[in-house]
Amino acid sequence: MLSGSLSFIFVYFVEHNCFKYLLTTMNLSQNISLKPFNTFGISVYARFFSTFSNVSALNELLEFAAKENINWLTIGGGSNLLFTKDYDGIILKNELDGIDLVNEDDDYYFVKAAAGVVWHNFVLHCIENSYGGVENLSLIPGSVGAAPLQNIGAYGVELKDVFFELEAFNIATKTIEKFSLNDCAFGYRESVFKRELKGKYIIVSVTFKLTKQPAFNTKYGAIEQELEKMGCTELSIKNISNAVINIRSSKLPNPKEIGNAGSFFKNPVIDGELYAKLISQYSTIPIYPAPNNKYKLAAGWLIEQCGWKGYRKQDAGCHSKQALVLVNYANASGKEIYDLSSEIVASVQQKFGVDLEREVNII
Ligand code: EPU
Repeated sequence: MLSGSLSFIFVYFVEHNCFKYLLTTMNLSQNISLKPFNTFGISVYARFFSTFSNVSALNELLEFAAKENINWLTIGGGSNLLFTKDYDGIILKNELDGIDLVNEDDDYYFVKAAAGVVWHNFVLHCIENSYGGVENLSLIPGSVGAAPLQNIGAYGVELKDVFFELEAFNIATKTIEKFSLNDCAFGYRESVFKRELKGKYIIVSVTFKLTKQPAFNTKYGAIEQELEKMGCTELSIKNISNAVINIRSSKLPNPKEIGNAGSFFKNPVIDGELYAKLISQYSTIPIYPAPNNKYKLAAGWLIEQCGWKGYRKQDAGCHSKQALVLVNYANASGKEIYDLSSEIVASVQQKFGVDLEREVNII
């Protein structure tokens, strides 16, 4: 089997063993290790791999996948994925690049970022240019294009709070369509692209509505404490970003050092009946109000109470400072991490009667 990059004219076999020449600019590789392309650092192989840095290259790659009748998967930073086996298809790495100020009015900057931009680089760009609103979302791993998929959120701010519109490639019609805030139907770690439109569109850019007069959001307790610790007397988006970076770095493992994909599970949302039962049994359980008379629990607390925090079995583990994060210490397989997550789900269900849902995409 071929291995490595074939960045010139790609030659491939079709039925009846005839050669066919696909004249293309596709940067196509075969039998490629995905270890550098997923923050869990799982060592699996992809049958085909290519990057794309414009929409026509993306289209060409999708046509190739259709012609070959193989699966495809677009990835950004690979920070919300768990590969449990080799990928028998083509991995398309989004490298669409660029950040532009496309409009402004008295109150807002409208900033368009291509889907392949690294999320934290986008945040740093905003801070340098005094565009307010994304500072609480500092240091979240991943890319701009993946951010709306699961409506990323941290420290009291969600992507939907700064979202204006996005452009996505419609795979069936091969056209670019615009999606407004309402069209995206954002929820907690949810969007229409994870549900009804899954597999139908590929996000190519996101336009953000960022403030000229920043409305600082420090209500998330730990931020105020951190700002105090840093000796900050004046609020600024830069100071808040630095506070968030400090908090994240102290609690969450750096994927460059220990493989992980951030929160492995969503915080579960429960109804009033279960809420009443749990609060009567566990007086210290952290509970937050959620829409529609529901309540959100801290999955990290539930997992810690079941004794998993700091647990390690060979190279698969539950992080010692944040139980919501599963880790690969070196050479864990995706299956080992997945099996650990199943044991955690079962024990939380048994102790609390609560179902944990995985936030990470299992491939
Ligand atoms: N907790 C524990 N034990 C733990 C972890 C947490 O008891 O091991 C308790 C904490 O003491 C606190 C509560 O759980 O009372 C909430 O903890 P934390 O503030 O650390 O936040 P989280 O709910 O565990 C969520 C997001 C994170 C985000 C933080 C901060 C989800 C699934 N996770 O975590 O997002 O950074 O809030 O806003 O909503 C991510 O999505 O990858 C991610 C890291």
